Amino acid sequence: IVLSLAATVAAYLLGSLSFAVIVSRAMGLSDPRTYGSRNPGATNVLRSGNKAAAGVTLLFDALKGWLPVVLVRWFGGPYGLEEGTVALVALAAFLGHLWPVFFRFEGGKGVATAAGVLLGISGWLGLATLATWLIIAFFFRYSSLAALVSAVFAPFFYILGGGMAWYSDARIALAIAAMSALLVWRHKDNLRRLLAGTESRIGAKKK
Ligand code: G3P
Repeated sequence: IVLSLAATVAAYLLGSLSFAVIVSRAMGLSDPRTYGSRNPGATNVLRSGNKAAAGVTLLFDALKGWLPVVLVRWFGGPYGLEEGTVALVALAAFLGHLWPVFFRFEGGKGVATAAGVLLGISGWLGLATLATWLIIAFFFRYSSLAALVSAVFAPFFYILGGGMAWYSDARIALAIAAMSALLVWRHKDNLRRLLAGTESRIGAKKK
């Protein structure tokens, strides 16, 4: 239990690294919290016009979700860390992104981090969810809409695809459902803009 808690705290701290802010700072760009949607995330960094910065943000925000999950899955067993800890670190990394201790608890919406978490839980689950995101993004060109639809599908992908598989676990299913619910809630302004027809499309620049 001590190890499980330590892993959860470590995952939260890792999740608290807001890479949109860190990468923008490192590359000499303005703070993503000052333009566009003001969200510290890859979609908004892309509005700066710097694709590389957006790509690196996406990669690192996803990695910080993926890493704690796979570390526990691959190496936790001998230390008594099982699916319950996988669920805890998954949620902790995601919560860190939303409420980062290093950034006055003002974080992002969790899309990239959730994608990393899902890929860490199971490759096909991550890929199915990513495919959902890509299909919606391709046809509608809204990052937020793609994230909302993917978030709604992800728990069902896990439950339906899990079946008898080894990783099928109620605690992990709950963690995924909680992530999805929080992700949707964090997109309430996007939802309003989507309904009003004022949401900005992927790659559209905005100051
Ligand atoms: O995935 C983040 C995206 O869903 C919304 O970002 O910057 O358009 O609010 P943004």
